Amino acid sequence: MDPEIIEKIVQEMAAFTPDMGNIEGVPMLQNICNEWDTIHSFQARDGDVVVASYPKSGTTWMQEIMDFILQEGDVEKSLRAPCFIKVPFLEMAKTSLELANTMPSPRLLKIHLPVHLVPPSFWEKNTKIVYVARNPKDCMVSYYYFQKSDQTLPDPGPFENYFNVFLSGNVSWGSWFDHVIGWWKAKDRHQILYIFYEDMIEDPQREIRKVMTFLEKDLSEDVLQKILQHTSFESMKKNPMVNFSVLPNSVIDQSISPFMRKVSWGSWFDHVIGWWKAKDRHQILYIFDEDMIEVSYGCPNGVFMSSVFLIFFFKPSIVHFGQDPQREIQKVMTFLEKDLPDEVLQKIVQHTSFKMIKNMQTKGSCRVSL
Ligand code: A3P
Repeated sequence: MDPEIIEKIVQEMAAFTPDMGNIEGVPMLQNICNEWDTIHSFQARDGDVVVASYPKSGTTWMQEIMDFILQEGDVEKSLRAPCFIKVPFLEMAKTSLELANTMPSPRLLKIHLPVHLVPPSFWEKNTKIVYVARNPKDCMVSYYYFQKSDQTLPDPGPFENYFNVFLSGNVSWGSWFDHVIGWWKAKDRHQILYIFYEDMIEDPQREIRKVMTFLEKDLSEDVLQKILQHTSFESMKKNPMVNFSVLPNSVIDQSISPFMRKVSWGSWFDHVIGWWKAKDRHQILYIFDEDMIEVSYGCPNGVFMSSVFLIFFFKPSIVHFGQDPQREIQKVMTFLEKDLPDEVLQKIVQHTSFKMIKNMQTKGSCRVSL
């Protein structure tokens, strides 16, 4: 490993300002926008392999697994350099691009780009891409803490506001929803293996096997066990080659939040379970957002919503069927001891529908954030 390269990347990143621009309407760090033409015209080679994801979806984990598979379980080789050197993050820095361009094949590369912004040469070369998707709630919490510690990203502000910012997609690399759905659709047209972070937690061995098959690597059971061991959360957390501890505080300040915080299904789960337990001791009415959503959704995102709920929201163990806003509003009325006539109930249902609130917001007649 060339220490000068690390120094060069560190210096380049330390000089970044957390300003935002956009590429074709997708919010993106200004330093990426500045280099966009070069990034977009990146030349893929035969034999390249890519790990792609929305930020904070377990990219580093997958990239370690893929590197291990390509190195056929050789631990020494896997420790040859920090993860951002051995697997260049294409759009992040000029130095990463240079590194990728000068690296011998076969190359393993990382991108966070939404599918429609992927450099076209990857499609021309029919490059194999492993996409990792993580549920939006953990992704959001992880991204929030990462934005706090990564000094090259904008300050996320208080979590209450960040929640809306994340949902509206006004973060670097854009909307989580557009990202995962875009890649989900693309997987049928290209050589894309779509993997869920939650499945990796549930059964890493099974998911590593899928990646091995996709990369056409038939490795022995011993090698598989080695990969499992070296890519476990505990091993990676203490491995300086993957936990980003080689980067100074001026780039990622891990005293604010460590890169590897904890194995999660996550913080949101602790949060909802905490309130779930507390509801039996206090006057708390526990309502599921999912229960309140109209079955037809009545919004242009209907198709997306149903796919997302099917794909992601079923993974956590709290699953509720039968969305019925009227039933849920009735629960709230009872809880607040308000016995209102059916006519009023219908009015509330109508005026609090997604469509109605969204229209009001667009017309600027009220300030409601969805
Ligand atoms: P948390 O912030 O929830 O801890 P990315 O690499 O895309 O930036 O994703 C980082 C997230 O993946 C972090 O989530 C990190 O802890 C998690 N992660 C990294 N390696 C992991 C592993 N071996 N097992 C489980 N989660 C891992």
